[in-house]
Amino acid sequence: MKLLVTGGAGFIGSNFIRYWLKNHSEDSIVNLDALTYAGNLENLSAVEKNPHYSFIKGDITDPEKVDQAMNEVDWVVHFAAESHVDRSITGPAAFVKTNIIGTEVLLDVALKHNVKRFHHVSTDEVFGALELDSTDKFNETTPYDPRSPYSASKAGSDHLVRAYYHTYQLPITITNCSNNFGPYHHPEKIIPLAITNLLENKKVPIYGDGLHVRDWLYVEDHCRAIDRVLADGKIGETYCIGGLTHDINNLEVVKKIIALMGKDESLIEFVKDRPGHDRRYAIDWSKIKNELGWEPKYDFDTWLGKTIEWFKEHESWWRNVKSGEYREYYEKQYSNS
Ligand code: NAD
Ligand code: TYD
Repeated sequence: MKLLVTGGAGFIGSNFIRYWLKNHSEDSIVNLDALTYAGNLENLSAVEKNPHYSFIKGDITDPEKVDQAMNEVDWVVHFAAESHVDRSITGPAAFVKTNIIGTEVLLDVALKHNVKRFHHVSTDEVFGALELDSTDKFNETTPYDPRSPYSASKAGSDHLVRAYYHTYQLPITITNCSNNFGPYHHPEKIIPLAITNLLENKKVPIYGDGLHVRDWLYVEDHCRAIDRVLADGKIGETYCIGGLTHDINNLEVVKKIIALMGKDESLIEFVKDRPGHDRRYAIDWSKIKNELGWEPKYDFDTWLGKTIEWFKEHESWWRNVKSGEYREYYEKQYSNS
């Protein structure tokens, strides 16, 4: 089997490539990635010499590059995206271009090449926000209600993927997952930002009152879920994927990290809230459990601890990521707090 992975140099894509080559060593993977600020080939140093792995630098909005990358491909697993909500607030155009136009280009080329599966990786953020004091959860039938340029562009891409199934019978599957965490997570996101700031004895910025709730999924659980959907998922179907957390808010997450790292809570700094900040996400993952036998294996507390250890052991990786473009971004993002 030959897979095209888009966005394989990012956080989840690189974890997926390493996971796949370990668990399906007979398969080969082509990684198509534009290497934006979020793409980092260091994430793939463990597999770069593997004869079953190859890399093409290219943009998913470029039909010729995509055509070249999709040559003789059986399955496409589409991760490439602009993925950070805060960046979508200051610069939505790149999100529309990559997440919507890029997905449409991939779908067209996938049709032309008669791929056997187009798997689209999406987010729970397309469903909008839940109330803090409710026990509601998102599931596959929750109406779309995206509220940030990021989630709106991902919603647009999901609709296009479904449209290609209904209109052209492209064999698609979609997964909408919650917030991932784990190795190679870009430090613009809250968990690695907190860990690496604390390692530098810097303050950890918490937006607003810190009571916003996310559902946390360990990245390897996510990779296993995609594996199950590729193997036995029903064509045209969507599966929601969530983690083992139950309503843990951002302040509690950061306090856990501080405790695990033996630091002081005085390093917490409440800063200006994100505009349109979604209050609460929670995922009902019973469909993928009942139909495909998947459930998360990795509990939050243990794997948060292991993630902290990973960052301690990979200091040059995160220091590298935090230099250059990120330094400028950080100063702009947090300067008016
Ligand atoms: P990321 O930002 O870490 O990586 C994105 C990758 O896509 C990078 O390697 C980047 O270079 C590449 N890319 C961006 N624009 C491109 C373009 N035009 N052409 C080719 N490559 C391009 O993202 P991530 O956190 O690994 O997320 C992967 C996917 O999972 C995304 O589709 C995202 O929406 C989805 N998702 C992420 C999370 C999460 O918690 N990180 C949660 C739910 C869904
Ligand atoms: P983030 O990691 O950006 O993921 P998402 O916005 O896709 O859920 O943010 C997770 C939560 O942490 C979200 O409620 C926003 C909050 N947050 C902060 O409080 N401070 C920060 O500096 C960042 C980046 C996020």
